[in-house]
Amino acid sequence: MSPEQAKQLVAEAAMEYIEWDWVIGVGTGSTANLFIDELAKIKGQLDGAVASSEASADRLRNHGIKVMELDQVGSLPIYVDGADESTKHRHLIKGGGAALTREKIVAAASDKFVCIADDSKLVGMLGKFPLPIEVIPMAKSYVGREMVKLGGNPIFREGVTTDNGNIIIDVHDLSIDNPVDLESKINQIAGVVTNGLFAQRGADVLLLGGADGVTTI
Ligand code: 5RP
Repeated sequence: MSPEQAKQLVAEAAMEYIEWDWVIGVGTGSTANLFIDELAKIKGQLDGAVASSEASADRLRNHGIKVMELDQVGSLPIYVDGADESTKHRHLIKGGGAALTREKIVAAASDKFVCIADDSKLVGMLGKFPLPIEVIPMAKSYVGREMVKLGGNPIFREGVTTDNGNIIIDVHDLSIDNPVDLESKINQIAGVVTNGLFAQRGADVLLLGGADGVTTI
């Protein structure tokens, strides 16, 4: 089974968690896009969606789904999004699509975070996928040096400006044996907006698609 087919399976499986008249938190990326396409099939039964990126907001609007601001709705019953890596403890690396900060905000404001991914994303230890960090532009070099002190190899993501007007640094070669601790440490560095570790607020449910269908963790 191709990763695309696996992503389609979990996008469909996530629909089981959606109830009528809800406002849904919606993530960013190719798997989230498939989920948005599934949402479009029941759009008459949804009150709306809060998107974690301008790209997802555009896709939702193109399907005729009402996009709302988080401030308009308060807390959300559910957030559905993909991931770049996940452990069996549902600690994640996210931000491959540069939307990590809004993703973290929408996840934090949601009662349940359902993460959907193809099963190649399941890892024993986080860190093979470079950890994205959203950084205020003037802090680029400073944050890079701090990440070297933490054992990483920071690479500036060329040509990318986030929806919040910031830059992304991808940190390679980290062995993340304590993601909860590292998430805090990196967030305390001046100039860091947030980092792509979703460990303190990880996923509540992980749906993995693969040759055997959908596995729920
Ligand atoms: C975007 C993300 C995505 O969830 C992550 O990159 C996974 O993307 P895809 O579903 O395309 O594999 O964090 O910032």
